[in-house]
Amino acid sequence: MSVPRPAAVIVLAAGEGTRMKSKTPKVLHELSGRPLLDHMLVAARGLDPERLVVVIGHAREQVSAHLAESSPDARLVVQDQQNGTGHAVRIALEAVGTIIGTVLVTYGDTPLLRTETLRDLLDRHGADGNAVTVLTARVPDPTGYGRIIRDAEGRVVEIVEEKDATPEQRAIDEMNSGVYAFDGLLLADAVKRVSAANAQGEEYLTDVLSILRDDGHGVGAHVAADYVEVEGVNNRVQLAFAGRILNERILRGHMLAGVTIVDPGSTWIDAGVVIEPDAVIHPATQLHGATRVAEGAEVGPGCTLTDTLVGEGASVRNTVSDGADIGPQAKVGPFAYLRPGTVLGRAGKIGAYVETKNAVIGPESKVPHLTYVGDATIGTGSNIGAACVFVNYDGVAKHHTTVGDHVRVGSDNMLVAPVTIGDGAYTAAGSVIVNDVPPGAMAVARGQQRNIAGWVVRRRPGTKSAEAATRAGAADRAADDEADDRR
Ligand code: UD1
Ligand code: CA
Repeated sequence: MSVPRPAAVIVLAAGEGTRMKSKTPKVLHELSGRPLLDHMLVAARGLDPERLVVVIGHAREQVSAHLAESSPDARLVVQDQQNGTGHAVRIALEAVGTIIGTVLVTYGDTPLLRTETLRDLLDRHGADGNAVTVLTARVPDPTGYGRIIRDAEGRVVEIVEEKDATPEQRAIDEMNSGVYAFDGLLLADAVKRVSAANAQGEEYLTDVLSILRDDGHGVGAHVAADYVEVEGVNNRVQLAFAGRILNERILRGHMLAGVTIVDPGSTWIDAGVVIEPDAVIHPATQLHGATRVAEGAEVGPGCTLTDTLVGEGASVRNTVSDGADIGPQAKVGPFAYLRPGTVLGRAGKIGAYVETKNAVIGPESKVPHLTYVGDATIGTGSNIGAACVFVNYDGVAKHHTTVGDHVRVGSDNMLVAPVTIGDGAYTAAGSVIVNDVPPGAMAVARGQQRNIAGWVVRRRPGTKSAEAATRAGAADRAADDEADDRR
C-alpha cells in the first residue's frame, strides 16, 4: 500500500550523548561509512517528505557543518537549551511554521530504523485516522525507556518515562521508540500545553499523547516487528552492536544480488559501496567509501579498499588502496599499497611490496616487485624491474617521470624526476637515470665493476671465506692474474 508523503520529518539531534564519552558529537559517530544521523536521514528521505527538519543543539557547529555538506535539503533548527523532546519539537514547529498534514518525529541516533518500518507506521496512522500513532516495540529489557500504558481494551492511554513510572509500570515490556506520526496542526497545539512538571523537569513529547487523548482524538500504536530496529545508540557497546547489524544487512543485500562473500563474519562493507554480480569478496576484507567492484572481480583476502574502483575480472589480494582505479583484468598484490591518483590499465599489474601514488600505469604494463612509483605516467606494455624507485621529490618539490610504451626498466633503477624514458627503450640494472633516454636506446648509468683478485685470502686470512676461496683455487688464480698483469 502506498502512503501519502509526510508533510515533514523532524529529526531530533540536539542532545549531548554523554554516555559516548567522546569529543565527537554522538550523531556524528560513523557506522558503515556514514554518521548515525545520516542513516536516519537516508531512511527519512525514503518517504519523500515535503520538508526535512533537523533539530540541533549540542556541538551545533560540527553537526551543522556536516549537514551543510551531506544534507543540503535539511532545514536546521537550533535548540539552545535541551529542555526535552517536547521542547525540541515545539521550537522546530515555531521555526518552520504551520504544517498541514502528517509530521513524523524521529531521533538522530537510531541508525537501524528502515524506511519500510516508517512507512508501516504511516500506513497504520493513515488507516486508523489517528491524531498520533507511536512506534513501539516489545523488548527483552525495557530499562531506561518510556513504557506504553494501555487500557483494558488495549488502547494506548499514555507513555510514562522510566523515572516517573511505578514499579508495576516498569514491569511493562512495551517500550516507546520515540518515533511518532502526528497530525501537524494537532501536534502544534498540543506541544504548547506540555508542562515540565516531572522527574527530569523537561518538556516531554510523550505527554502529547495523553493531551490529544484527553481532547478526544485518536491515539494509536504500531508495534515494530523487530525491536532491534528501534533501539538507539547511547554508548559504544550499542554503537558496535548497531554497526554489526547494519553490516549484516549490507552484506545480505549484496549476496542476494549475486555477490559471493566467502566469510561474512570478517567482511565489512560501507553503505555506499557498489558491487556487481559474480564478484567474489574473500575473507578479512573491508570496502569503504565510494568503492565499486565490477563483475567477476575478486577482492581479498585481506584487502582494505577506500574510494577504489576495481574493474571487471580484476584480482586484488592483501592490498591497501585509497583512491585508486584498477582496470579490468588487472592484478594487484599481494602486499601492495595504492595511494590516491593510482590508475592501473587493463590487464596491468602492481605486484608484491609495491607502493604507487599519483601514477598512471598503462594497459598491460607491469610493476611486479618491491617498487615505489610516485608522480609518474607509464605507457602500454612496459615493465619495471624489481626494486625500482621513481625518485619524485627533491626535498622541495615533486617532479614527474614519464615512461613510454614497451619500455624495459632494469632492476634496481632510480629514475630521478623530472625524466622521460622514450618508447621501446631499455635501462640497465642498477642504473641511476637522471637524463632522458631516447626511444629505443639502452641507458647504462652505473659504476664499472672492478675485481681485486685474491683480496680475501690476503686481507681476511683464517676466515671461512678465505678457506672457501682457497678451496676454489683463488690463491692460484690470483697468482696467475698477477703474472698476467706483469706480462
Ligand atoms: C525518549 C523518550 C522515551 C523513549 C526513548 C527512546 C521522551 C520524554 N522520552 O527518552 O519515552 O523510550 O526516547 O529512545 O521523549 N533531544 C533533543 N532535545 C532535547 C532532548 C532530546 O533534540 O531537548 C533528542 C536527543 O538528541 C535524542 C532524542 O531527542 O536524539 C531523545 O532524547 P533522550 O534524552 O535520549 O530521550 P530519552 O530519555 O532516551
Ligand atoms: Ca535515548
